[in-house]
Amino acid sequence: MADLREVLESNRRWADAMHAQDPGFFERLAAIQTPRILWIGCSDSRVPANQITGHQPGEVFVHRNVANVVVHTDLNCLSAIQFAVDVLRVRHIIVCGHYGCTGVKAVLDGQQLGLIDNWLRHVADVRDTHAAALAETQGEQARWDRLCELNVVEQVLHVAQTTVMRDVWARHQDVTVHGWIYRLLDGRLRDLGVSTASAEEGERRREEAVRPRAARP
Ligand code: CO
Repeated sequence: MADLREVLESNRRWADAMHAQDPGFFERLAAIQTPRILWIGCSDSRVPANQITGHQPGEVFVHRNVANVVVHTDLNCLSAIQFAVDVLRVRHIIVCGHYGCTGVKAVLDGQQLGLIDNWLRHVADVRDTHAAALAETQGEQARWDRLCELNVVEQVLHVAQTTVMRDVWARHQDVTVHGWIYRLLDGRLRDLGVSTASAEEGERRREEAVRPRAARP
C-alpha cells in the first residue's frame, strides 16, 4: 500500500504543479475535449502516447492494447475509433507500434504465455502472412524489428477496412490513418509511410510496404 500512497502523492504534486503553471488549465480541460489525434498503441508501459509526443492532457484520444492490434470484432477498439471520428471529429488516427515489443517477440519465439496467446494469435497471423519475408530477414533482432513494422502496416489496413472508416470516407470526412513506430532505445518515432485516406489507398500502401526491401523502387 505504501507504493500506492506514493502514486496518489505523486498525482497531488503533479496537479499542484499544473495549477501553479496555468491556474485555468483544469477548468478549461473539464469544459471541453478537442483532441486532433486518435492514438492506437501498445499497452507497454514504456510507450505512453502523450509523453512521447509531448502532448498535454486533452490533446490525444488514446486506445491501447497488447501489441497495438486492430481486430474487426473488437467492440472496444471499434468504439474508440467511431467515437473519435464521429463525436470528437479527430483528423488523424495513428497506429503506433514499437520496436522491442514483447508481445511481438512472444509470437516470433512461439512462447506460450496463457490467455494472451489468443490475442497474440492476431500477430501470429501477420507473422504467417509474411513468413517468407521474415525468413529472408537475416538476424533475430532484424526479424523482430521487421515483424513489429509489419504488424503496424497490417493494423493500419485493418483500421482502413472498418465499416466506421468506410462510412467516414463515404461522406468525405477528412480523416487520415497513419502507421508509426517508436524506438525504445532513442525515444524517436518514425513514420512508416503507409498513411491512407481510403480503404483502396490502404490496400496499395500495404502492398508497397510489405514488398521485400530489395524489390522496392
Ligand atoms: Co508492445
